[in-house]
Amino acid sequence: MSITTLVSTCLWFLVVVPSLTGANEVNVNCLRSIKSQVQDPKGSLSSWAFRKGTASYVCRFIGVECWDVDRVLSIDLSGFGLQGEFPLGLNECSSLTGLDLSRNNFSGSLPSNIASLIPFVTTLDLSYNQFSGEIPAGLSDVTYLNTLMLQHNHFTGQIPPEIASLKRLKQFSVAENQLTGPVPEFNEALGIGVESFANNTDLCGWPMDYCIEQEEKVSRFGKMGAAIGAAVFAPVGAFLGWFFFNGRKENQ
Ligand SMILES: *[C@@H]1O[C@H](CO)[C@@H](O)[C@H](O)[C@H]1NC(C)=O
Ligand SMILES: *[C@@H]1O[C@H](CO)[C@@H](O)[C@H](O)[C@H]1NC(C)=O
Repeated sequence: MSITTLVSTCLWFLVVVPSLTGANEVNVNCLRSIKSQVQDPKGSLSSWAFRKGTASYVCRFIGVECWDVDRVLSIDLSGFGLQGEFPLGLNECSSLTGLDLSRNNFSGSLPSNIASLIPFVTTLDLSYNQFSGEIPAGLSDVTYLNTLMLQHNHFTGQIPPEIASLKRLKQFSVAENQLTGPVPEFNEALGIGVESFANNTDLCGWPMDYCIEQEEKVSRFGKMGAAIGAAVFAPVGAFLGWFFFNGRKENQ
């Protein structure tokens, strides 16, 4: 995290978030529901033991980072061997700014209301999982996102054009999915390169190849038809021209 990001994050929490978070029990409930909602065949979360008492003990859980003693700031469960769907209980971690579920076996589609579950997240890494379905347009409402890593999943359909409205995006990848169609029109200054879109089914548009629109395919076909027409009818036309020209000459 850069200093400016850190400072703005801290200001954000000092000014805005205290009014949004209720009892710190909420953070405990969040982790409790995540643990109950994921399958954990390797027992990676077995040390997450819930008990009575002040909520701050959850901040010592593996993969959990807190701010202000007992508010869960980020959750990093990368490579924990977890399975199941995107854990909806995350909505109770109302101060969450970072979520890393990469390199697990999560599957199913992402919830369309993802922005209401993780509204303040700046870093979201879901790469190297088995997530499928369409990338929800609602991700564009997670407005503070600066890192969005969705590579190496089974996402299909188009990348929602709304994603281009994420002004703070610095790191972005949807490589190695089954996406098709035009890529969002990101601000070129963000420097999002071709490798962010690599190894998909059929993506097009800057920074990749120009998209051939359906209309153009039709008009290309039309031009081809005209060319064939010209090739076929030109000799006929030439013959008719010659015929009339000569016919007229003979009549004179
Ligand atoms: C995903 O699950 C498969 C079998 O179900 C397992 O072989 C593989 O190691 C798992 N991958 C990860 C990253 O946990
Ligand atoms: C795309 O696939 C090739 C071949 O499997 C691999 O070498 C390359 O690293 C992949 N690129 C990305 C960005 O995933």
